[in-house]
Amino acid sequence: MDTGHQQDVDWPALEQAAKEAMERAYAPYSKFPVGAAALTEDGRIVSGCNVENASYGLTLCAECALVGQLHMSGGGRLAAFYCVDGQGNILMPCGRCRQLLYEFRAPGMQLMTTQGIKSMDQVLPDAFGPEHLEETT
Ligand code: THU
Repeated sequence: MDTGHQQDVDWPALEQAAKEAMERAYAPYSKFPVGAAALTEDGRIVSGCNVENASYGLTLCAECALVGQLHMSGGGRLAAFYCVDGQGNILMPCGRCRQLLYEFRAPGMQLMTTQGIKSMDQVLPDAFGPEHLEETT
């Protein structure tokens, strides 16, 4: 369990930002729009939608756009995360996106899930991360 400092989170604001992002989705192939929003450690809200491609495997998940916006708006780390489907219901991030979120997590990052608020360690246990690249054999 991640015991890092947990930031106060305005969850309704994150939910709203995720829903607004979802409205921007480009998902003509799956017809499954997704919106994601996150609170940064310094209090910004960043968001993203999924953007698909005729070459289906090139689809960009909403979280890809979110981390792009994170960097374009000043960088930093993610303290809280919320993702919604086309009905506005909470959506669990896919496996690849859990890895993306892990890379940019703040200590104590909280994720809204279908089972309530969880830590990064709970949604991606035993994660591989940048720290493993430092290991020497
Ligand atoms: N999708 C996301 O944007 N994020 C996720 O974490 C799960 C899946 C998108 C990808 C694709 O455009 C659609 O949902 C259906 O898989």
